[in-house]
Amino acid sequence: VSAVPLLLSGMMGAGKSAVGRRVATRLGRPFVDLDEAIAAADGRAIPAIFDEDGEAAFRRLEAAELRRTLDLRPEAVVALGGGALLDPRLRAETLERAVVVNLNASTDTLVRRLSSEAAGRPMLAGEELPARLAELRVVRRQTYAAPPIQVSTDGRTIDDVVAEVAQRATAEQRLFGCASDRRRLLLLTDAGPCPLFLGEGAIDHLGDALEALGFAPGPVFVVVDEGAAAFGEQACAALQRAGHEVTRSSFPSGEQHKTPGTLARLWSEAAQARIARDRPFISIGGGVCGDVTGFAAATYQRGVPFVQVPTTLLAMIDASVGGKTAVDLPEGKNLAGAFHQPAAVLLDKRSLTTLPQAILRQGFAEMVKHALLEGDAALSDLERRTTRSFASALDDGGWLDDALLRSSVAVKARIVAADYREGGLRRVLNLGHTFAHALELCDGFNIGHGDAVAVGLCAALQYRRGHPACDALLPRVSRLLDWAGLPTSVAEATDDPPSPAALVAAMGGDKKVKDGTLHLVLLDGAGAPVVEPATEPERLNAAWERTMTRAKERP
Ligand SMILES: NC(=O)c1ccc[n+]([C@@H]2O[C@H](COP(=O)([O-])OP(=O)(O)OC[C@H]3O[C@@H](n4cnc5c(N)ncnc54)[C@H](O)[C@@H]3O)[C@@H](O)[C@H]2O)c1
Ligand SMILES: [Zn+2]
Repeated sequence: VSAVPLLLSGMMGAGKSAVGRRVATRLGRPFVDLDEAIAAADGRAIPAIFDEDGEAAFRRLEAAELRRTLDLRPEAVVALGGGALLDPRLRAETLERAVVVNLNASTDTLVRRLSSEAAGRPMLAGEELPARLAELRVVRRQTYAAPPIQVSTDGRTIDDVVAEVAQRATAEQRLFGCASDRRRLLLLTDAGPCPLFLGEGAIDHLGDALEALGFAPGPVFVVVDEGAAAFGEQACAALQRAGHEVTRSSFPSGEQHKTPGTLARLWSEAAQARIARDRPFISIGGGVCGDVTGFAAATYQRGVPFVQVPTTLLAMIDASVGGKTAVDLPEGKNLAGAFHQPAAVLLDKRSLTTLPQAILRQGFAEMVKHALLEGDAALSDLERRTTRSFASALDDGGWLDDALLRSSVAVKARIVAADYREGGLRRVLNLGHTFAHALELCDGFNIGHGDAVAVGLCAALQYRRGHPACDALLPRVSRLLDWAGLPTSVAEATDDPPSPAALVAAMGGDKKVKDGTLHLVLLDGAGAPVVEPATEPERLNAAWERTMTRAKERP
């Protein structure tokens, strides 16, 4: 396994250097103190750099030194300065490319450790120590909360802390080992970090994922989608190898099982297996299994940790990202649920090998939506891939590679990170969906969701007919959908097409209606979504009229 750097982060006094040095010795890896490396490169001591050039100049030196270390010293164990990851972009880049362990300590502990050695710590100069530390903790809360590995040092011996850091970091190192490009995606939200590891064989590292998160061997509750039984076997075997006691529950295939009844069954099975409140629920399967298992995890014992292994394309790029969980009610889809972000998500492209084309296609519709939200480069990338056949997806040299999966996941992750609880930006993920929901509703939900989204994307572009960017996008989008065998018109999507009037009426009942006004997500161009109230029903009607049968203009 080729290494990625192991970085120690945390407040001054948390023990980064002392712990880092010993972790390096224990793992037989070289140790780097980033402050010392900066001082050596600059020729001045850190306080002198602060005094003479100011903090901003120091941060630039620090960022350059950190990037150098990430690029050139993958084997190093590195103690960071307390402010090294303050810059959000550098923080995101670093967490994508390195194992980062955050060491925590209470202010009392920090004061005790620091009061004897405050000299030489420029950030503390001239301030009253406890107040200054408390303030820094608040200001830097996001920085220190970002690494998924959090280790407490209060009241513990250094050997004890070193052992935990070495063990969890090594487990995460193995996860990086299977990740394509040796990179993970890290979704940072108000609800904390969610690391996503994407790579061949990721499922076999489920035990490593739990170890990195700090779960000792013990009971785990694993819910396996019937359609992904083979991968459930692999997952359970990996967990057993890591010493966990697996309670396995089988999840019957299909949206009709996304019910409060199934939810209650999962609660009971977990209770019968005496799963304690600090033990994880794990879902192996499609979006239905993930949504219900996630909701069960959100509510069992008032909330237990949740780890997700999505096994459909849609679950990988969409449902497993962002922490929404739900069940359906007779009154409507996803009407009861909770926000409950997974502690980790493992994406293993191998799990798509058994997926029927018809289901893969449903996920592709969301992939087109993500590309439209991202921009022209993403759309062009998809188009370039259509030189191969849709059926070749996972063949050697097929169109669906890790890079494409990663970029599509990243679109959703970026939007969710900016707006976890859907106050604004997250709404853009509904592109095409207000139209799609109307079609699903009129069709009694027999139509596939991806089929409905495909038609919905076309309808959203037709709604803006005459807008040059939309007019230019429509043939491109239609071609992509066509290539995948997805419908671009109502007539292709269902044998019993509803009328435009019926579809417009169904849109009035969409849950995106606010204060009586229907809001649509539309495009000013690829990568430029806008939310706009739909005030004229005639325009909606016209959009549906034009989407009833295939568009005339075909390239
Ligand atoms: N939480 C969210 O943010 C979010 C976002 C989008 C969609 N969703 C939800 O996701 C659900 C749709 O998810 P989906 O498209 O994955 O459908 P799904 O979960 O119903 O899976 C589709 C079918 O594929 C089978 N399957 C799963 N993995 C397989 C594999 N590897 N090989 C062969 N068959 C396999 C399943 O058993 C099922 O029959 C909907 O309920 C939707 O509401 C949630
Ligand atoms: Zn969707």
